[in-house]
Amino acid sequence: MPGAAASKELDGSLARALGTAAALPDRRWIAQLTGASDATIDRTLRELTARRGEEERIRATLRAGGREFYAQIQAPFELYALTRILRPRHVVELGVSSGISSTHFLLGLAKNRGGSLHSIDLPTFQAGAVHRADESPVAIPPDRASGWAVPKRLRRKWDLRIGPAQELLVPLVSELPGIDLFLHDDLHTPRHLKFELGTIRPKLRPGSVVLADNTNWTGRSFPDFARRLGTRPYRRRGTHLMGLRVPGPPAA
Ligand SMILES: C[S@@+](CC[C@H](N)C(=O)[O-])C[C@H]1O[C@@H](n2cnc3c(N)ncnc32)[C@H](O)[C@@H]1O
Repeated sequence: MPGAAASKELDGSLARALGTAAALPDRRWIAQLTGASDATIDRTLRELTARRGEEERIRATLRAGGREFYAQIQAPFELYALTRILRPRHVVELGVSSGISSTHFLLGLAKNRGGSLHSIDLPTFQAGAVHRADESPVAIPPDRASGWAVPKRLRRKWDLRIGPAQELLVPLVSELPGIDLFLHDDLHTPRHLKFELGTIRPKLRPGSVVLADNTNWTGRSFPDFARRLGTRPYRRRGTHLMGLRVPGPPAA
């Protein structure tokens, strides 16, 4: 079992590399969603620490694009750990922006040597090269595309679809045999989240993990979905990012 001080130092070095203290991983949340042991979670996060140059490069790319941070998930390291521990065949992500969440899913899948990430994004653009305070925090520079901070080598096997989730999610889901890991991080309204959860539900399997960010804006959509599945939602420390695990033993 890793010592608490060693774990804290490990997590701190990761968050510093990406340049955001908010990204300190919540190990308990990973355990709640996967049932993995402390040792497994520690081993998984150590993989990332060993390659923290990757996080530094992502940060440098974002900075070169004109801003310290673009709208990004506050739990990128947890997304990597979930991908490593669950070993999903199909990950579906709604909402890409600069691509922090996408990058961490793709890093995990590359390490797994299997599985695919399917992402949908309708990008929001800044008016000019400099982001104005009155513009949406998710807006990207006019000369960039969705996922522009994702390292090139990870993009080769990435299924990125550009357009509104309202039009693209149903056809995407119909192509997939199952969804093992899902992230909602696009349009944060109760109605839209309900639509997404209802659309993916037939493809979820026992052991699938479903995540939704900014649940403070989506009313009871997520907790109600959890209740209908007979499970409970877990909130990631310091955020409104919630997750649930579909009950039952994972599919073989
Ligand atoms: C919060 S950002 C995503 C951040 C990203 N997950 C990350 O970690 O960096 C939300 C993204 O969803 C996009 N979006 C908003 N409404 C959408 C919709 N109806 N369909 C698809 N994408 C949408 C926004 O333009 C933006 O690119």
